[in-house]
Amino acid sequence: MTRIIHINNQNENYAIKVCAGIIKSGGTVVFPTETVYGLGADAFNPGACSKIFIAKNRPADNPLIVHISNMKMLDQVAYIDDGLRKKMENIWPSPLTLLLKKKESVPDIVSAGLDTVCVRFPDNKIALELIEASGPIAAPSANISTRPSIVDSETAVEELDGRVDAIIDAGRVRYGVESTILDCTAEPYRLLRAGAFSVEDIESIIGKIYVDPLAKGYNQSDVALTPGLKYRHYAPSKKLFLIENEEEFKKFISSEISKDFLVLCSKENEKYASGKSIVLGSDIYEIAHNLFYDFRYLDNSGKLYGVIQGFPESGIGLAVMNRIRKASFMIVKDKENIDKIYRVINE
Ligand code: TXA
Ligand code: MG
Repeated sequence: MTRIIHINNQNENYAIKVCAGIIKSGGTVVFPTETVYGLGADAFNPGACSKIFIAKNRPADNPLIVHISNMKMLDQVAYIDDGLRKKMENIWPSPLTLLLKKKESVPDIVSAGLDTVCVRFPDNKIALELIEASGPIAAPSANISTRPSIVDSETAVEELDGRVDAIIDAGRVRYGVESTILDCTAEPYRLLRAGAFSVEDIESIIGKIYVDPLAKGYNQSDVALTPGLKYRHYAPSKKLFLIENEEEFKKFISSEISKDFLVLCSKENEKYASGKSIVLGSDIYEIAHNLFYDFRYLDNSGKLYGVIQGFPESGIGLAVMNRIRKASFMIVKDKENIDKIYRVINE
């Protein structure tokens, strides 16, 4: 049975105590972070961590992120050089996850047998209190594998009730896209996943990093940067079409045929839609915040298909476009390929 724990000011301490008790006794807890909801277990307990893979239907070769709430915990799980450690003391807590050489203490099930571990110090009060009370927590995003990440507690309950020991209900998360992952075992450091912490911010604090063109989200199936990236990701069940060229997008959504589609667009472009549309937001942070939420809205809508526009790739926009491309059934980059959409829906 799953305990649904609604957090408010009065019961916060008690709720954290209950959830930490569950983690320490080998159970699983869904908890909020500033990015997306996580599905956590005691990072040092392989049996508990194996429950995460079962609950999520996650392939065993996809490693978990270890969540910490202080620098001592970092030293328990990974090796880090002094210079970087100092910088991280100023950067954390924040949605920047580091890939580091792991220590013996991290079980194979967490690192999927690799000699590295991803470490994350989340900027969310409830997450930090829970980790502080229970020790390092291994947690992937809480969604069932391949589904969009979970950004609100109702979806967490809908998707995971009966699969985990407890779910903390803490409403909507702040960012809506996952943390940025930086491989610090490479020289220079290398971006493994675009996320809520922008490349621009990393470079202004840590220095120049290597950003693979794949960070944009194309070609997911051929070359996998991290084990997780070789699987289809973040995807709604309905077929989503991305039209990157804004003029073509506007033309498409004002056409008669677009009435079979749910249109996902910016506030600015809403007026061009001739059929049903959902506004993702008017700035890129708002769009990130609503993206996964509205992918799920598409699934629950009466429409057979979704069509979404492209956004500028600066700041958090890089993560937004990475997620949209990975979630899309088809990416239309130019005018010539618009016909391909018609072909798919007429099949
Ligand atoms: O914002 C986030 O990072 C959220 C919240 C819950 O903290 N977590 C999250 O975890 O997104 P997950 O498991 O959905 O994504 C972690 C990614 C996966 O693609 C995984 O393959 C990669 O990190 N990863 C984890 N450990 C790794 C390792 N040792 N080497 C390479 N990639 C690793
Ligand atoms: Mg995930």
